[in-house]
Amino acid sequence: MTATADTARLMDAIYANQRHVYDLTRKYYLLGRDHLISRLAPPEGGTVLELGCGTGRNLIAAARKHPGAVYYGVDISERMLETAAENVRKAGLDGQIRLKQGDAADPSIVNGFGVEAFDRVFYSYTLSMMPIWRQALDTGFARLAAGGRVHIVDFGQQDRLPGAFKRLLFAWLGKFHVSPRADLPAVLENQAICSAMTLNMKDLYRGYAVYAELEAHSPATK
Ligand SMILES: C[S@@+](CC[C@H](N)C(=O)[O-])C[C@H]1O[C@@H](n2cnc3c(N)ncnc32)[C@H](O)[C@@H]1O
Repeated sequence: MTATADTARLMDAIYANQRHVYDLTRKYYLLGRDHLISRLAPPEGGTVLELGCGTGRNLIAAARKHPGAVYYGVDISERMLETAAENVRKAGLDGQIRLKQGDAADPSIVNGFGVEAFDRVFYSYTLSMMPIWRQALDTGFARLAAGGRVHIVDFGQQDRLPGAFKRLLFAWLGKFHVSPRADLPAVLENQAICSAMTLNMKDLYRGYAVYAELEAHSPATK
């Protein structure tokens, strides 16, 4: 079995039941997602891609907040995508949000959308769950339009919170195969240098979460 098939099976197993209570429960601890959504501000007629879109919660919120864009979501879990498709339909946003099953580490996975490059690409609490998170980042950067932005929110290292909190949180997250990436800031700094992008990164909620934006310069401003 391939790594992609293994991950798909694992995610389906984790979320087969969880997806029914996911949006209700995660709003208490996947903090900073609405901050990311408010920062997207895609151009009118623009394109927005979420890699690891889960139940579609973010895509729906973003489509409501920034209705002038078209939204695309990829997730490796068929079960999560079933829930996402149902949520999108209930929200009446079928015409504005398109979904696709696949591995975010595979850059060709977005080909089926028929979009050459995306104005915004975002990752919300997915890099900490993807074993191949660096490749998943590569996919987003490879498909980013000139002048576009990559947005990331994920668990931070909890360094300004009590040590016992960090130990308990990390132990609990481990049960869901979630590993907050200590080297995420360094990887993004390196990416920004290599791609001549502007990086803005900050801690949210005393380091509970980390938020980052990387902006590609449009050809005229290079
Ligand atoms: C913690 S959930 C986050 C969902 C959503 N982004 C949010 O903020 O609510 C992580 C999601 O990443 C998906 N995922 C994990 N590995 C993936 C991969 N290699 N490619 C695409 N999606 C993946 C899981 O199936 C799951 O839906």
